[in-house]
Amino acid sequence: MSNIFKAEFIRQYEDLGTVCPVFRKIYWADKIVRKATLSVSALGFYEVHINNQRIGKFIFAPGWTSYRTRLQYQNYNVTKYLEECNTIDIAVGVGRRRHKRPDEELPFLKSDEIAVIAALTVEYEDDTVEVITTDKSWECMKSNILFSDIYDGEKVDFTVECEDKFTVKEVPLDKKILIAMEGEETREMARLDAVELITTPTGEKVIDFKQEVTGYVEWVVPARKGNTYKLQHAEFLDKDGNFYTENLRSAKCEIEVTSNGVEQTYKPHFSFQGFRYIKLIGFNDDEIKLENFSAIVVFSDMKRTGFFACGHEDIQQLYENIVWGQRGNFLDIPTDCPQRDERMGWTGDAQVFARTAIYNYDTRKFFRKWLHDLAADQEENGAVGNVVPAGWQGGGSAAWGDAAVIVPYQMYLAYNDTRIIEEQWESMINWLKFIETECSEKGRWDKGGHFGDWLSLDAGYEAAGGFTDKSLIATAMYAYSTSLVIKMGKVVGKDVSYYEEMYPAIVEQYRKNYLNTGKEEHETQTANVLALYLNLTDNREREAEKLIKLIEECGHLKTGFVGTPYLLHVLQDIGRVDLAYKLLLKDTFPSWLYSVKMGATTMWERWDGMKEDRSFATPEMNSFNHYAFGAVGDWLYSTVAGIRPDENEPGYKHIIFEPIPNKELGYAKARILTPNGEIISSWEYKGEGNLCEFSFTIPDGSYATLYLDNEEYEFVSGTYTTEFNYPEIS
Ligand code: BGC
Repeated sequence: MSNIFKAEFIRQYEDLGTVCPVFRKIYWADKIVRKATLSVSALGFYEVHINNQRIGKFIFAPGWTSYRTRLQYQNYNVTKYLEECNTIDIAVGVGRRRHKRPDEELPFLKSDEIAVIAALTVEYEDDTVEVITTDKSWECMKSNILFSDIYDGEKVDFTVECEDKFTVKEVPLDKKILIAMEGEETREMARLDAVELITTPTGEKVIDFKQEVTGYVEWVVPARKGNTYKLQHAEFLDKDGNFYTENLRSAKCEIEVTSNGVEQTYKPHFSFQGFRYIKLIGFNDDEIKLENFSAIVVFSDMKRTGFFACGHEDIQQLYENIVWGQRGNFLDIPTDCPQRDERMGWTGDAQVFARTAIYNYDTRKFFRKWLHDLAADQEENGAVGNVVPAGWQGGGSAAWGDAAVIVPYQMYLAYNDTRIIEEQWESMINWLKFIETECSEKGRWDKGGHFGDWLSLDAGYEAAGGFTDKSLIATAMYAYSTSLVIKMGKVVGKDVSYYEEMYPAIVEQYRKNYLNTGKEEHETQTANVLALYLNLTDNREREAEKLIKLIEECGHLKTGFVGTPYLLHVLQDIGRVDLAYKLLLKDTFPSWLYSVKMGATTMWERWDGMKEDRSFATPEMNSFNHYAFGAVGDWLYSTVAGIRPDENEPGYKHIIFEPIPNKELGYAKARILTPNGEIISSWEYKGEGNLCEFSFTIPDGSYATLYLDNEEYEFVSGTYTTEFNYPEIS
């Protein structure tokens, strides 16, 4: 049992307003220290310094979890930082304890809503052990961080002397909420140099980092005593080339620092922004040096496991935008966006993107922690939150709540992770039980509030929820989640007979009420995609023809968050991979490459985020860093490069290679680092003809089936190269 459970949560008596407090303890090491471990947690984000040295690399510790019942603590080996006299300082910011809603300005967190808890365990050479814990003997001071929150930014005044001491009280919080660290630490993962200084038509001084990132700017504060310097953040310049922040809604994303006359480097402590551009306010021209500004990229310290490359510049950029979108939104939890007054763990977005995310990075710890929070925040009746952790209320939407089942399944598939099935089993079953309460008839999910095919293009500009019947989507997702629960239940030896009996009833309800009804809201691209991808139709040719006709009639996709992830897979399955590639290679609105053409460096929330004249969609909901439509990334891995796991032998024990080359790409290559080792698949057209060279690597302990030219070839581990004629896809 960690000594942190011997410590007390402490906070100061006085209300310090928005100023971030620092809790301090002086500790004398009067014997030789063999090992010292500091265990820490906080209500709010904390930063620890011992003798003015920052402890650990965890940015925004202790992380965001379902705080009502789960609060991570961290252990740090601090032996090397200790001297005879030691000053332990723990600064605290509100962190994820304060959220914004687009429609209301929430009062700033009262100071009695933050607290810290810590225990320093010191083992001396003489085998004695001393434990110093947080209690009312600690001091509290005001820091020079006058204000800090994730949305509005941070305000620091270097002229402030932090002398005044404030009395500390112990807070009787239930320590049972403390849990050992589960997730990945969020860390500074990359540093980008400032690239260009722009003076906008309205005379603003703007720095362009050329890449949209999530994190913060580290910069040199000039030595003009008492002067206040400000940085504002934006994703894009408007069509006239001026700084554009309207789509941030009520999030100010502003950093303000008052100089004390000493040039010094500064970066935010408890705030982050989503940005490509920064505007400088209060700087003299000679105080602006590009080399003094760096963009620090902060995200969860996951191991990169997937790499994709191809010979088509825009497709390559699309892939990079997908990866940057994941970096920008996998900051401790999977957020919808990192810049505006939202930044919530939207479940629907996470489930549609999960398969792609798992190709790109080792998300096992990241998603395991998040799924534990999903279960912790699940309502009594089994409803899964629309956002996890519960920063906002509301739950129970089809395709959003189904993250409870789909994310564990994707983890099982890629990692052969049966533990996550065991751990999430009760949550999955409670979700299915919740759905049953929303059915007017057995198997027909036709009640409740649903987001629908979010941001599809088939219902006109204003209707974000799309045109597809929401109970069609709900019943389809009910069938999907039930089918996955049956599969996962069998893997871990659960009795799934109830669901094996329920599944055909759901399919029957789908066919009776939503299939081939001729009603427009049942005949959208997404409706046909779901019927085909989830095998709900009893006549695949019919739905396939309708889907192809719907696409060829308008010449583009219209699908939203629900239909888009499956669209290209379905077109491939129905033998129209040519149409799939046509949609992928299209670069006019609406399409994946349209945003690339318009200068995107991450994925956009909307297909129509920016118009051809570079004016923007409604600022009410227009993020330029939303990964949901980046779900196409898994088709780049599984079809363009041709690597996918086999659900019968998960974790890439058995690998399926099914590359579908396209001459317009010239070549494609993917590498995936799996629990079994590295898998490589690449193809390249040789010369003018259709001769295509294909090579692949299978790690030890795995074997593979190659589907090529309607033939099947079995391979054991090793590296192989072969050639075949692959006709132009037209
Ligand atoms: C979020 C989306 C989410 C949607 C659901 C939006 O505000 O940004 O990510 O899926 O709401 O309605």
